[in-house]
Amino acid sequence: MTKNVMVTGGNRGIGLEIVRAFAKEGYKVLMACRDEESGEEAKQDIVGGDVHVIEMPLDKEATIVDPFVRAEAVFGPMDVVINNAGVLDKTSWEDVSGEDMRRSLQVNTLAPLTLIQQALTGMIDRGYGRIVNVSSGWGCFSEDMKGPLAYAVSKAALNALTLNIANHIPDNTDVTINAMSPGWVHTRMGGSDAPKTPEEGAETALWLGTHEKGGPNGKFFRDKDVVDW
Ligand SMILES: NC(=O)c1ccc[n+]([C@@H]2O[C@H](COP(=O)([O-])OP(=O)(O)OC[C@H]3O[C@@H](n4cnc5c(N)ncnc54)[C@H](OP(=O)(O)O)[C@@H]3O)[C@@H](O)[C@H]2O)c1
Repeated sequence: MTKNVMVTGGNRGIGLEIVRAFAKEGYKVLMACRDEESGEEAKQDIVGGDVHVIEMPLDKEATIVDPFVRAEAVFGPMDVVINNAGVLDKTSWEDVSGEDMRRSLQVNTLAPLTLIQQALTGMIDRGYGRIVNVSSGWGCFSEDMKGPLAYAVSKAALNALTLNIANHIPDNTDVTINAMSPGWVHTRMGGSDAPKTPEEGAETALWLGTHEKGGPNGKFFRDKDVVDW
């Protein structure tokens, strides 16, 4: 049976390539975008595939929960959720404000949590699910937390919640949650000097979202390898 996948930030960058990759694999793809127009525009770039745009601004809980519930009512339960959308706030630690911190934490940490809360119980009840949190090496203690403060802290929190929630998934079910870094990728966020293409940045997300039963849970990946975070 066709599986459903929801990809946040699906309208550009790595997210658009994740959408394209799942569509190619035959999934029904719910492309969650800040606004419908940018999603519909991006969708024109995808040839074939069963792709549907869902307007989902990640700035507050209600604008995440309502569209998620509507999407499941129309398309059926989500089998895979890829929390890809992210913001990179480069404000220095001296100047970063509470509001800057809240914005980064909302999009990079709390929005993924809200979607996980929406999707995970159903996945466990049905016995199948894959959740992938697109994080960053800049949020890794093992890499000295080198990113700008708001970004690094919000991605470190995303890594931490991935492990914490993984520990709460019963062993006897085929449901997993993992985090990953796409590497340094040529997108609006990564900039034009980045060595990886968005297609390459999408590969590990596709792999983690489609792995067979008995695959990893609560781990952090780069280029399909487990790495310390
Ligand atoms: N590029 C890299 O080198 C790199 C490295 C490590 C990790 N990552 C991670 O990879 C993921 C994708 O990055 P990318 O390089 O593809 O970034 P990008 O090109 O800047 O795209 C970011 C995506 O997130 C969406 N987004 C941001 N804020 C949102 C909000 N409030 N509501 C809804 N959508 C929102 C954007 O939507 P709009 O188009 O509406 O703004 C866009 O679709 C991010 O989580 C990023 O942290 C990237």
